[in-house]
Amino acid sequence: MPVQRIRPEVSVLSDSLEVPGIGHMPVNAFVLHAGQPVVVDTGLGLSDRDFLQTLAQAVDPADVRWIWLTHPDRDHTGGLHALLEAAPEAKVVTTFLAVGIMSCERSLPLDRVHLVNPGQSLDVGDRTLTAFRPPLFDNPTTVGFFDDLTGVCFSSDCFGAPMPAADVAEGTDARALPAEDLRAAQLLWASVDSPWVENVDPKRFLDTFHLLRDRAPELVLSTHLPAAEGITARMLDTLGSAAGLRPFVGPDQAALAQMLAGFEPPGGP
Ligand SMILES: [Fe+2]
Ligand SMILES: [Fe+2]
Repeated sequence: MPVQRIRPEVSVLSDSLEVPGIGHMPVNAFVLHAGQPVVVDTGLGLSDRDFLQTLAQAVDPADVRWIWLTHPDRDHTGGLHALLEAAPEAKVVTTFLAVGIMSCERSLPLDRVHLVNPGQSLDVGDRTLTAFRPPLFDNPTTVGFFDDLTGVCFSSDCFGAPMPAADVAEGTDARALPAEDLRAAQLLWASVDSPWVENVDPKRFLDTFHLLRDRAPELVLSTHLPAAEGITARMLDTLGSAAGLRPFVGPDQAALAQMLAGFEPPGGP
């Protein structure tokens, strides 16, 4: 997992996962080097990943004070419990519902939880972070945030896009992709991750972008997109056009059977 400090206050821990037929999904976690260090999401839980070791390239895990979990999907919680052990002062910034969802698998100790709802702020020493619900999401507990000092937006799954290759997915510049390709990839991801956009009222849907339009962050950091600098207006236009989008439909059993048949050795077993 490459670790890159893209700004004095932000490190990106890049990872990716190949999704057959879709592409290489970036799976980022971030460190916000605030007065009180903040880790944003904790990566994949695959057995060959060592989140703590990767994190240690950006910050001493023992110094981490906040773990902002944008939502408890498994591509965001990989290193969560290991980090809680390594960072005795850290609290998990999350929501009441997310705590409930996590209790189905492994409960968080409630004295290690700090609940923040959209619209509320968290003081991290030298700045405040203001929580918001990103306009697109796949989990009802999703909470992204703005760094009120620098304006940087951490958007969780929103703005994600499959990339054509692992090295692009683990890169740190979404502008590596031509604008039209990025637009198509973001709409594909919207159809995968937020299939409900098919049914939204276009005007009401666009209203949910107002906060992002007003704040106009210069840098958007999505879990599933290389860092996106200076292209926020374009990305908002892309996702703002997603109302009515047809949901992604994966291969069915007939397609799977055909695929498996293709793997059989010549002459059969
Ligand atoms: Fe998700
Ligand atoms: Fe995700």
